[in-house]
Amino acid sequence: QEGDVANGEKEFRKCKACHMIQTPEGEDIVKGGKTGPNLHGIVGRAAASQEDFKYSEALVALKDSGEVWTREDLAAYITDPNKFVQEKTGNDKAKTKMTFKLNKAQEDVVAYLASVSPD
Ligand code: HEM
Repeated sequence: QEGDVANGEKEFRKCKACHMIQTPEGEDIVKGGKTGPNLHGIVGRAAASQEDFKYSEALVALKDSGEVWTREDLAAYITDPNKFVQEKTGNDKAKTKMTFKLNKAQEDVVAYLASVSPD
């Protein structure tokens, strides 16, 4: 099991301006913004599959490419969302709505996300 969950939780402060973590039962694990989709259960979920969120064309194209979020891909995505989607879809013009890049502790954040999600 890679990644430091406690440090990831700390780093997740940078994410919660835009993202909440809320269970299907409506329990808030992290109360956060609504600019981005709910990240509950994100590890192992198909990309762009949060029902009530309006994703960019770039994220929908990523989903259509068959992307399922592995830990490795999540770490790469949060390091540089546009670069990740461009490489995965082969469209070098693809542009996501996520304007934030995390420059450290990516694996810790992913470990934290996995820790608050069902298996
Ligand atoms: C999308 C993670 C920070 C705004 C996503 C997705 C993930 C993610 C995994 C794809 C979700 C899916 O496929 O359903 C994170 C993490 C962050 C972070 C771990 C912190 C390290 C932010 C911040 C903002 C933001 C700070 C706002 C300034 C968005 C938006 C989307 C998105 C708008 C939808 C992208 C689109 O439709 O193109 N984020 N995010 N995120 N995130 Fe973040």
